[in-house]
Formats: sequence, structure tokens, C-alpha cells
Amino acid sequence: MSRDAPLVLGIETSCDETGVGVVRGEELLADALASSVDEHARFGGVVPEVASRAHLEAMVPTMDRALARAGIALKDVDAIAVTAGPGLAGALLVGLAAAKGYAVAAEKPLYGVNHLAAHVAVDTLEHGPLPEPAIGLLVSGGHSSLLLVDDLTGRVRPLGATIDDAAGEAFDKVARLLGLPFPGGPPIDRAAKEGDPAAIAFPRGLTAPKDLAAHRYDFSFSGLKTAVARWVEARQRAGEPVPVADVAASFQEAVADVLTAKAVAACREHGVSTLVIGGGVAANSRLRAMAERRCGAAGVALRVPRPALCTDNGAMVAALGAKLVAAGVPPSPWDLPADSALPVTTVSV
Ligand code: KG4
Ligand code: ZN
Repeated sequence: MSRDAPLVLGIETSCDETGVGVVRGEELLADALASSVDEHARFGGVVPEVASRAHLEAMVPTMDRALARAGIALKDVDAIAVTAGPGLAGALLVGLAAAKGYAVAAEKPLYGVNHLAAHVAVDTLEHGPLPEPAIGLLVSGGHSSLLLVDDLTGRVRPLGATIDDAAGEAFDKVARLLGLPFPGGPPIDRAAKEGDPAAIAFPRGLTAPKDLAAHRYDFSFSGLKTAVARWVEARQRAGEPVPVADVAASFQEAVADVLTAKAVAACREHGVSTLVIGGGVAANSRLRAMAERRCGAAGVALRVPRPALCTDNGAMVAALGAKLVAAGVPPSPWDLPADSALPVTTVSV
């Protein structure tokens, strides 16, 4: 990446991670993170007010760490990017207010960006320019979507999404049922390594022919979560031990199976030869392995960033910001609002 590629600082506060990243074009210079996840653990889910306060406390130190690690001063950046949505309203507001303050003080253009598009953009920091069109599979604690990405700086079309729980939410809820800590993805991933993925035939939501007709690229994980709950309860009622590793492996298998089957089908049916997977659940080892195998068989090039870039971070916001600057997209107005339900079709505000 040349020295004149845009130097962009990105701020992420949509959920429980305060992230500040610095990139030069597609080169990652710094990715500072402060997480309030431990403060939410005993509630079994993210508590919005707790997250907002934690962002407030972490913002300035995280910003200072990112600048120091990148070896730059704020005055050096070409632009500041910030997550404008979707996410928790109060949490987004903290990041947006900080970004506006820094941008005004340093007289830099400000880009309010879409968190979901940023989860796709982050992959460019690891694998270079994204071939377009690409199919994006976005799986996190709050979202599960299939996207047709014609142009990551402006034209992203939703093909489908979850009709109930997000994939990460299902991991978190099933972990709770199994007595595993929050967030549930990593401990289920670990427990599953010792289990048999074929031990229990859990349902694959929206894959029956009648469901596919109306929900070709949609997901549903609420029935799966209920099936796991019933199975576990039946064992407990019978006074038998719950085989945590087998339940974790079989549940994880069902999620990975549906996600990869629909993503590869979307590639095939839209004549697209690149699949990029992003979001916290993209850190899942079984999902990565299954996607690798199925994409290989279908002749689809698979791109999944390393796990640390899959979960929320500031570098992803900076990566999308740099693409917007390079494409000549105009910055956001100073009064840009936080939009907790920002549609994925709005890449920048
Ligand atoms: O993208 P992310 O950090 O935040 C949101 O935007 O939601 O995703 C967090 C979600 C959590 O539900 C967490 O359980 C899940 O990602 N997750 C995983 C793994 N690591 C994180 N799910 C499955 N396997 C993992 N290894
Ligand atoms: Zn996210």
C-alpha cells in the first residue's frame, strides 16, 4: 500500500467493545480495544447502560493507545470514521460524540459508517482488495445476514437475514443452558472439540423445501435453541448427566451447516465466486472448516479474517472509512445521528 493511501482512524462502540483502529489504505497500523464483556457476564447478555458508561470511561485511553501504537498524532489522519449504526443507541452515541469532538478539534472529515459493512471491509486488511461482486455472510451477536456486495462503498443488497435470533445469540443462549460462561461462542467452540457433532440430530432451521420457497436465504435459530433446551431438560428430568461436549458439538454443527449451505447456495445462484464471512461467529472453528470445505467443492474463493478481526474492533471501521475516502465518497454531515436500526443498504451516512 502506497504512502499516499488514506490514513484513517476508526471508532467502534456499537456493543460492548470500545475499539479504536488506525489503517493506511489496506494496511493495519493499530487496533486498540477495551471490552466491558466481564461487566455483562453475570447478566448473561450485554446490559446497554453498563456498556454506554464503559465506552465513556474507555474512549480517551483507547484513543491514546491506538495513536501511540500507530506512531501518529491525530493531526496526521486524513479522516475519522465512526460506527453510526446498527447497534445499541446509547453506546453508539458515545462513539459518535467522541468522533465528532475529535474531528472538529483536528479539523478532519468525519464518516459515519455501517457496522455490518465494516465487518466485511475488515477482511481487506488481511487479504487485500475484495473482488466484487462478493457474497457476505455476516454472523454476530446481533445480526445474521447474507449480503450481495456489488460495491462495498455504496451498493450492498440484503439477500436474507435471521427471522428470529442471531447466530451469536443462539451460541450465547445455548451456552447458558449448558452452564458455560458468556459470551457463549468461545466456550462452546472449545467444548465441541471433545464432542461428537453427529451425537444429536438437532434441527436445521428454514431448510425444508416449503421453508426454502419463502426463505431461501433467511435463517432461524430460535427453534434450534428450543430443541437444545428440550433435549437438555429431558436428560435432567431423567436424572442423567448432560453430555456437554456432545450437545455443544451437535448444536455447533447445526449452525455451521445451515450458514455454510445457504452462503454457498447464494454464491452459486448469483454467479458469485467470492464468499467473505465476518462478525464474531466467524471466529468459530467449525464454521471456518466447513466453509473452507464447501467453498472448495463449489469453486468459491473463501475469505475469513483472523478471529481477532472477526469480533468487534475499531480497525474494521477504519478499513471501511479508508475505502470510502479512496472512492471519493463525501463525508457525513456534522449533525449525523446514531441510528440503532441503520439498514445494511446504507453503507455510510
Ligand atoms: O461481532 P461481535 O463481536 O459483536 C456483535 O456485533 O454482536 O459478535 C459477538 C458474538 C457473540 O454472540 C459471541 O458468542 C460470538 O460472537 N462468538 C462466537 C465465537 N466467538 C465469538 N460464536 C461462535 N464461535 C466462536 N468462536
Ligand atoms: Zn459486530
